[in-house]
Amino acid sequence: MASISQMKDPLYVGKAIRAQLEHEIPKDLPLEKDFREGSDYTITDHVHDLHKSLCTDTRTLELVTALIDALHTFARKTKPTHAEWIKAVSLLTRAGQQSTPEVNQFVLLSDCLGLSVLLDELEHPKPPGCTEGCEPGPFFIDDVPEIPSGGSLATSETVGEKLFFEGSVKNVEGEVIPGAVVNVWQADGDGFYDVNSEVPSATNDRGKIKTLEDGSFSYRGILPTAYPIPSQGPVGEMLRALGRHSHRSAHLHFHITAPGYDDLTTALYPSHSPFLGTDPVFATKKSLICDLEQDRNADNWKRMGFSDDEVQEIGKTSGRVWLWRYNFVLPSVEAVKEFKERANLA
Ligand SMILES: [Fe+2]
Repeated sequence: MASISQMKDPLYVGKAIRAQLEHEIPKDLPLEKDFREGSDYTITDHVHDLHKSLCTDTRTLELVTALIDALHTFARKTKPTHAEWIKAVSLLTRAGQQSTPEVNQFVLLSDCLGLSVLLDELEHPKPPGCTEGCEPGPFFIDDVPEIPSGGSLATSETVGEKLFFEGSVKNVEGEVIPGAVVNVWQADGDGFYDVNSEVPSATNDRGKIKTLEDGSFSYRGILPTAYPIPSQGPVGEMLRALGRHSHRSAHLHFHITAPGYDDLTTALYPSHSPFLGTDPVFATKKSLICDLEQDRNADNWKRMGFSDDEVQEIGKTSGRVWLWRYNFVLPSVEAVKEFKERANLA
């Protein structure tokens, strides 16, 4: 092991390093063991030993040790050729180069490999009886206008068939949760969010609604349709190589918060939507798929707040409003903590 004076000696280190050594003296260790694949001391053991000797942050050490175990196990199992490895590195390189604030290819990669759903389930596990969660996706905005329950999320120009959503927020015991804040956001009838529409628009198809005294809330909106995730970049390339597609089922997004309860981020899917079983980001959970009804009674449209004209004109289908009902169940913060401990997820 080199001494500090040796490290600064031109005999031992070149000029390029000597300049750095003026500011930082790295730790050195004797190389005590040889490592060899197939022996009882491999490169994996050597890397772990080095990190254990040098790293003082226990969480960093835990994360990196587990990552190296997984990577080295992957390499031993699949034995990639150098050409295959370069191809993988090239894909990751392009993922970085093509990432933008709007479309982060690494987030997409995490989504399309099922990692985002897994991380969400590990951080926000849902005790039995609670509404299942899923990732928020890239279009969540926290700071959006509040609309009263029963109000409209869409403008008169929003493309799509009319939807009336009726929901409630309760706890596992069935008690209503008044004052819960329900942030809803969705694509329009052409599959565009306000932030990625062909003609970018002001806030549309999104808003915050507070639940009423009986825990209920409702809103007028648009029936969402399926839409594709960005597929021009390396992640799209990966999906095609796997025989997969980039089309997400139609859905409504919800982020629900209430004091004392674990935040719920989830999405609901209409059972008539295509791609439910091949969702590219694996967010279509069975319990979140809903059967919708169609209401063709003009008197009911009025009760919901629609005018006859807007239903007839926008729908162009002889007139109907889609009815979507769902009752959300939130776990308390305490219940999630206990559940995590019992399920060994803490
Ligand atoms: Fe979405």
